[in-house]
Amino acid sequence: MCNITTKDEFEKHIKRILITEQEIQEAVIKAGAEISKEYEGKPILLVSILKGSFVFLSDLCRAITLPCEMDFMIAKSYYNSTESSGEVKILMDLEHDISQYHVIIVEDIVDTGQTLSKLVPMLKERNPLSVSVVTLLDKPSRRTAPFNPDKTLFTIPDHFVIGYGLDCSEYYRNLPYIAEYNAEV
Ligand code: PRP
Repeated sequence: MCNITTKDEFEKHIKRILITEQEIQEAVIKAGAEISKEYEGKPILLVSILKGSFVFLSDLCRAITLPCEMDFMIAKSYYNSTESSGEVKILMDLEHDISQYHVIIVEDIVDTGQTLSKLVPMLKERNPLSVSVVTLLDKPSRRTAPFNPDKTLFTIPDHFVIGYGLDCSEYYRNLPYIAEYNAEV
């Protein structure tokens, strides 16, 4: 869909800003403070599902005032949109043995719910102290698998969104805000 070689082409696909940099930063500070209160005295492992969550993780971890460790995972869901069931493959696994940690999965977006509805039970089989999910964005209208994140910073309608880690063909992850992608230019 994207084939971008110039700054003009890059900018013309940014239709409108949906969530500003300031709105994101305020919500991240609030989420970090809540997590810091909820997990005080507990060993925390922040698990970032790559690639989309790397920007959110880097801001969220600095808004958490408790000692915490971080780990990274690549998981992809493969499914036919006409089927309700799908498959999640772990393409890069965690380094940590998570059995001694309260795991907080950090996601950029929950869309169909396919990825996390499979990944959370897979991680629970490793007997962590607990598992919860914090997501920057949630698109509940797109759900094909039952899944509710524990903490959502922004609930959004069904727009194709880019920025703050979210991509179109790997571009736009570096935008500091969330924007709607314009495919019609
Ligand atoms: C996105 C996002 C979630 C997943 C959510 O990742 O980061 O992991 O999709 O979608 P779902 O709820 O429909 O399962 P994506 O596969 O786009 O990879 P990326 O993070 O590397 O961009």
